Amino acid sequence: MVDIHSHILWGLDDGAKTMDDSLAMVRMAAAAGTTDIVATPHASYEYHFDVDLVEQKLKELQTACGPAPALHYGCDFHLMFENIEDALQHPRKYTINHGNYLMVEFSDAVIAPNMSHVLQRLGAAGIRPVITHPERNSVLQRTPKMLDGFFEIGCLVQVTAQSLTGLFGRQAEQAAWKLMERGMVHFVASDAHETARRTTDMRQAWKAVAERFGPERAEQLLDSNPAAAVRSESLPFETFELDKMKKKWYQLW
Ligand SMILES: [Fe+2]
Repeated sequence: MVDIHSHILWGLDDGAKTMDDSLAMVRMAAAAGTTDIVATPHASYEYHFDVDLVEQKLKELQTACGPAPALHYGCDFHLMFENIEDALQHPRKYTINHGNYLMVEFSDAVIAPNMSHVLQRLGAAGIRPVITHPERNSVLQRTPKMLDGFFEIGCLVQVTAQSLTGLFGRQAEQAAWKLMERGMVHFVASDAHETARRTTDMRQAWKAVAERFGPERAEQLLDSNPAAAVRSESLPFETFELDKMKKKWYQLW
């Protein structure tokens, strides 16, 4: 499995607190069958995102844990004014492995009406936004139609592994499966914060997806699609509608 959303770097946000925590998280991931993890510390009002510090901790952690799992650069990018302006000026600063895919998180309180336009601007700058856990966002839970608009302009969707197995409540679980049924999910990722509850072990999610949609879908969402994002390649699994839309603005890169 390849995990494109995790808070494994210690001391940067509300994820791992110490390097030992970080090591425990990556070892747990490796034991569960994860070969690659993207470290995505928050960039938000609460947590400052420092590129050099992220790179440095990534290297230290990779050295400490050995070659497996492979660790990659990334960011949990909150869609706020300062971040968006900065990403438009420095498009590869926040993306996975400084490539094309950007993990974006909406505010839980309000989603601005011009957000589609903002995401299109990011697209024109060569960035492919991946909307993180829409199933857990209270605005999108209330108004799922909003997500259709983002989907139509080429945004991708990542669901949290443990939403599928009920950790985030019934509403998130139902929303996650509804998105799955509509073919609107491109990635399942851990969004791990520690090793007790929000962990790096994605085996249960794999099993749940395989049981409902077959092993091929599990492989696409937890392995081949995220692996392609890590390498900045186009995704092996996308829905027909998205392929059509891709020809409009997404052809820019
Ligand atoms: Fe996150």
